[in-house]
Amino acid sequence: MIDGYGRTIDYVRISVTDRCNLRCVYCMPEEGVCSISHEEILRFGEIERVCQILAENGIQKIKLTGGEPLVRRRLPELAAALKQIPGIKSLTITTNGVLLEEMYDALAEAGVDSVTISLDTLDASVYRQLTRRDEIEAVRRGLRTAIQKGRMQIKINCVPVLGIEEQKLLEVAELAKNHNVHVRFIEMMPIGMGTQFAFVKEDALKHALEEAFGIFTPCGDVAGNGPCHYFAVPGFQGRIGFISAVSHKFCSECNRIRLTSEGFLKTCLQYDNGVELKTILRGGGTDEDLRRAIGQALAEKPKGHSFEKKTEFTDREHRGMSQIGG
Ligand code: GTP
Ligand code: 5AD
Ligand code: SF4
Repeated sequence: MIDGYGRTIDYVRISVTDRCNLRCVYCMPEEGVCSISHEEILRFGEIERVCQILAENGIQKIKLTGGEPLVRRRLPELAAALKQIPGIKSLTITTNGVLLEEMYDALAEAGVDSVTISLDTLDASVYRQLTRRDEIEAVRRGLRTAIQKGRMQIKINCVPVLGIEEQKLLEVAELAKNHNVHVRFIEMMPIGMGTQFAFVKEDALKHALEEAFGIFTPCGDVAGNGPCHYFAVPGFQGRIGFISAVSHKFCSECNRIRLTSEGFLKTCLQYDNGVELKTILRGGGTDEDLRRAIGQALAEKPKGHSFEKKTEFTDREHRGMSQIGG
């Protein structure tokens, strides 16, 4: 699939639920989160049908995300069905890790290739402050299980929110020293609650990390579907990566579309351009109807974000990150 700017689109990020068992300060409000009702959420069969059509048209990689994808019941069954679709080469999941220990084997057996764990700090009290829940031990167990079993590639996502010292970011980076996991630092994006926080620039953080660990050498050898750029660090088993949508815009290389849990095919993270596939799915639409709608949406995929203009952004997208799936 080629979009209106000549970019090849081969990756779909599917949010399987907007619900979450954490309340990260930059993602969800503390209270008053109104979840989408179960009837409004795409059923597994509907997601599979959309993916089937996407795969026939060139999508090769699928990411399962949320909210928190592991709170969706029977997720491994969906994962297994999606992985079996002809043309799908890679299936990955991004989770907060709270339920990972108990679900690890089922996900590996379903054919999930890589698991990304969102973990902003290893400090119990800072974790509670950032996620408003006391789940650090469960996440640690999930990560330990993933490291010990080694059946899927492991990445860590860390969004700097507080100071480098306050959030103990060196300790997070050291996960890549002590284990074969890749640690990625993500610049806060002005989406939903994220608009209320400043972002820590990649260059400042990289400088601090190099002072602590030695010179970073750029490397391009990490299997991934995303815009992360990676560095080798002396004595580290894994890589350190940066996803810097604000300071290093990567839209010209965009390879992705998104499917929200309510069945909206969203063509850019920032804008609400796209098409309601659920209406077609539940209105008796044919595969050809779906194909046409997808093609039309793709042709109108925006050129890129404009995070630098916050006001324009808030006018253009009403969904928060937990509904979009990052
Ligand atoms: P892998 O590198 O293959 O693990 O995939 P990924 O980086 O796409 O996955 P992940 O779900 O871990 O996302 C990492 C971060 O990148 C999250 O903060 C996402 O919100 C962000 N991200 C993913 N896709 C886009 C995009 O198209 N645009 C922007 N600006 N950010 C994105
Ligand atoms: N900016 C950057 N990353 C974010 N995430 C959630 N909200 C934001 C934001 N505003 C991250 C989560 C998760 C990933 C899917 O997106 O921490 O790791
Ligand atoms: Fe949940 Fe992820 Fe949002 Fe945190 S960032 S509240 S883990 S959906």
